[in-house]
Amino acid sequence: MAEQSSVFLVSDSYTAISLIILVVAIGSILWSTLRTGVPPMPSNVHVADRMLSLVPATTTGTIYELGAGWGFLALKIAGRFPAVQVIAYELSPIPFLVGKSLQLLANLFGFRRNLEIRYGNFMAAPLHDGTVIMCYLMIGAMIRLGPKLRAELPAGAIVISNAFTMPDWQPETTEIVESYQNTPVYLYRQEHPAVRLQDA
Ligand SMILES: C[S@@+](CC[C@H](N)C(=O)[O-])C[C@H]1O[C@@H](n2cnc3c(N)ncnc32)[C@H](O)[C@@H]1O
Repeated sequence: MAEQSSVFLVSDSYTAISLIILVVAIGSILWSTLRTGVPPMPSNVHVADRMLSLVPATTTGTIYELGAGWGFLALKIAGRFPAVQVIAYELSPIPFLVGKSLQLLANLFGFRRNLEIRYGNFMAAPLHDGTVIMCYLMIGAMIRLGPKLRAELPAGAIVISNAFTMPDWQPETTEIVESYQNTPVYLYRQEHPAVRLQDA
């Protein structure tokens, strides 16, 4: 009898601990979503493929993924462009931990050595060497990001955005992904610095 009740006690403790972990994880994701204004929703696979198809095969330099979420797109980019450095930023701790674990696991087996997922706010990260920027954010975040990219990216750098436009930027290309809710994918190009000087 005593043995049976101690078994129940142990299983109750496991249930309680699991529930606490679940509540903390959900709370953390909700809190981060409120903070950034962007939930950690991954790009649909068809949309991600279309975004990747817009990255020139000749790309060199650094590809930045701004807001890596669970890391799936970052892993995909790094796999498609093994000779290019890929840096991804994520500010939500739980998705970051999942993405970082996947990156480290892949690295352990010799894959995706060109990928680094960093915990942090991409608005505070220097992006001066970015040749390609990939993002799936929301309109508020795009409004904040636009001037930073204009100020920092080298001329000719491209910005590929899933679903959300960059206010005050003219897309060079807009592609519609028919296979997933007619989602638009926008490609923007950083102007030559001289053009930016004329604008100022
Ligand atoms: C919609 S998810 C996209 C995930 C991934 N890029 C994809 O397309 O599958 C956007 C992510 O951006 C992150 N995020 C938003 N603002 C951020 C910021 N300022 N710094 C770092 N991450 C940010 C959010 O936490 C969220 O996980």
